Amino acid sequence: MTTKFVKYDAKNNDILKEAADIINIGGLVAFPTETVYGLGADGLNVKAVKKIYEAKGRPSDNPLILHISDIKQLKDLVAEITPIAKILMDKFWPGPMTLVMKKQSIVSDTVSGGLDTVAVRLPENEIARNLINYANKPIAAPSANSSGRPSPTKAQHVFEDLNGKIDMIIDGGSCEVGLESTVVDVTGQKAVILRPGRVTFEDIEKLGIDVSYDRHLIDKSSVEKPKSPGMKYKHYAPKGDLVVLEGEYESIKEYIKKFPEAGVLTFDEYPIGNEIEFSLGSIYKSEQGSKLLFDYLRQFDSLGVNKMFAVKPKEDGIGFALCNRLFKAAGGKVMEV
Ligand code: TXA
Ligand code: MG
Repeated sequence: MTTKFVKYDAKNNDILKEAADIINIGGLVAFPTETVYGLGADGLNVKAVKKIYEAKGRPSDNPLILHISDIKQLKDLVAEITPIAKILMDKFWPGPMTLVMKKQSIVSDTVSGGLDTVAVRLPENEIARNLINYANKPIAAPSANSSGRPSPTKAQHVFEDLNGKIDMIIDGGSCEVGLESTVVDVTGQKAVILRPGRVTFEDIEKLGIDVSYDRHLIDKSSVEKPKSPGMKYKHYAPKGDLVVLEGEYESIKEYIKKFPEAGVLTFDEYPIGNEIEFSLGSIYKSEQGSKLLFDYLRQFDSLGVNKMFAVKPKEDGIGFALCNRLFKAAGGKVMEV
């Protein structure tokens, strides 16, 4: 299959109309959202949705997010909009938050991974929303990476992973947030964060909602299965060996200096001086690092780095999500120095 790679042009909607046509005949289109690039298919067409799993090499028990462009589309998809769901969607939609709700039977098991719930998101990015509008149906879209690789934050990343496997890639530049959406289970009276993101625990708590993290996000020794099936897979992994270092600047620096050939992921305040070294911006502004993380993990791969060290980010605000993705990329390897 030849993959059509097109640059988005705000003055020319023909591209989005063509992309919507591809979706409507059961094809696959990668498109930007404010979080990461998504790999979209007609969310109500089981055959098309199956192609997503195939193109990504994704395990079939890992459910997909349905993307909508208007809250009105929600009532056909979900069986119940709980009071906390209503509060959260009023506050954070359109935006980087996905809500897990009880599904209606129109949502296939292929989308929901056999669960009785469905994840729904109303993205903010105008390309994403116009595409959904033109297609005039919910678009099922996971991140547009090969399963196990870092999520794509640039169209080039999608091209690296999926060229020849999908119909079209729409290049809309770099993604604003850079980490995937916050996934919140709102089926009960309490909001449960299944995957942390730009919409933080504190943001939700501020609304007076009772909120908690899914246990496996805080208790690393938890043997319980994460409620979000995707969180159990090794994810975001670079090809080389990555270890996250925790400690004072001087000790981290001294430690890494013993490995001048290692790749380093650090912050402006923590320069190390290795040859292959990327800064995630200020350690006090985790939004900067969030936007850059996946791109740098991919760059380590292209440079063929075998060994990497990352300085542990601050864990507050979106820093919690940044740490979550980094720990996963490191396969849980965190070392105190
Ligand atoms: O920002 C994002 O969410 C991006 C963009 C494209 O919207 N999408 C994305 O999709 O990250 P994906 O498929 O890579 O991640 C979806 C996550 C997975 O961890 C999946 O297990 C979880 O959401 N999920 C989906 N449906 C679920 C459900 N019914 N219950 C619990 N978790 C669910
Ligand atoms: Mg993903």
